[in-house]
Amino acid sequence: MLKVESLSKTFGKGSNNEKLALDKVNLSLEEGEFVTIIGGNGAGKSTLLNCISGVYEIDEGRVILDSVDVTFFPEYKRSVHIGRVFQDPLRGTAYDMTIEENLAIAFAKGKPTGLRPGMTKKDSLLFKERLELLDLGLENRMNQKVGLLSGGQRQALTLLMATIVKPKLLLLDEHTAALDPTIARKVLNLTRKIVHEETLCTLMITHNMKASLELGTRTIIMHEGQIIMDFKGQERSTMTVERLIEQFEKRSGAVLDNDRMLLG
Ligand SMILES: Nc1ncnc2c1ncn2[C@@H]1O[C@H](COP(=O)(O)OP(=O)(O)O)[C@@H](O)[C@H]1O
Ligand SMILES: [Mg+2]
Repeated sequence: MLKVESLSKTFGKGSNNEKLALDKVNLSLEEGEFVTIIGGNGAGKSTLLNCISGVYEIDEGRVILDSVDVTFFPEYKRSVHIGRVFQDPLRGTAYDMTIEENLAIAFAKGKPTGLRPGMTKKDSLLFKERLELLDLGLENRMNQKVGLLSGGQRQALTLLMATIVKPKLLLLDEHTAALDPTIARKVLNLTRKIVHEETLCTLMITHNMKASLELGTRTIIMHEGQIIMDFKGQERSTMTVERLIEQFEKRSGAVLDNDRMLLG
């Protein structure tokens, strides 16, 4: 479903702070594969997702989505097929519009503007049904503005919006990192449920090592712009956080700088 071939990206080329953020990254995802990504700060995780979604132009390599070479497609064109949720709960929704209006915008994604009907009763029922899934009571607040919601509620809603039209690829960039632990857990469970039910091809960056092993079918570790570990199947199902850290430190020669990764 997704193929990243020899992808390189350098920021600030020729300047004093030139930074090779991605160094010939190769990554191939089967349909329905759910990959978690971990790595220290500055490893290139977000840059990888940003290059896949077209936020950044790449220097070298190719991005192929569902057999289409999208390397030179602008972000807006790729976004029709890519759902995204970021760390910041304020980013994914329009605060001054109602829950229902936000969902309607997400639901219209990919449909030509001229053919977009107004919101129908049927759409409204679908939104209600999807909101019930969240188990946050939002189905009874569809006419309230999103600005009234808590961060966790907004992230849950953003996740629904990113998947209400089935994307070919779902990209999650630490989407629970800004939430308190209880609601973060809830949004993670919801992520698992939605990805599973829709068999979505998913890349999820997380700072939480435990979650990186609990969710998904495959885990990759990034370090200094490269994928240094990639495991699935039995190797993954028997992996523990302790061994993960051990292996990371052995392969990278670095000590995990990121205390919050261990705490999560
Ligand atoms: N827009 C940008 N301009 C300049 N440097 C950037 C930009 N985005 C990321 N970088 C640099 O690229 C490296 C990788 O960053 P990033 O992908 O955000 O890391 P991660 O998400 O793994 O923490 C870092 O050194 C970061 O400072
Ligand atoms: Mg990041």
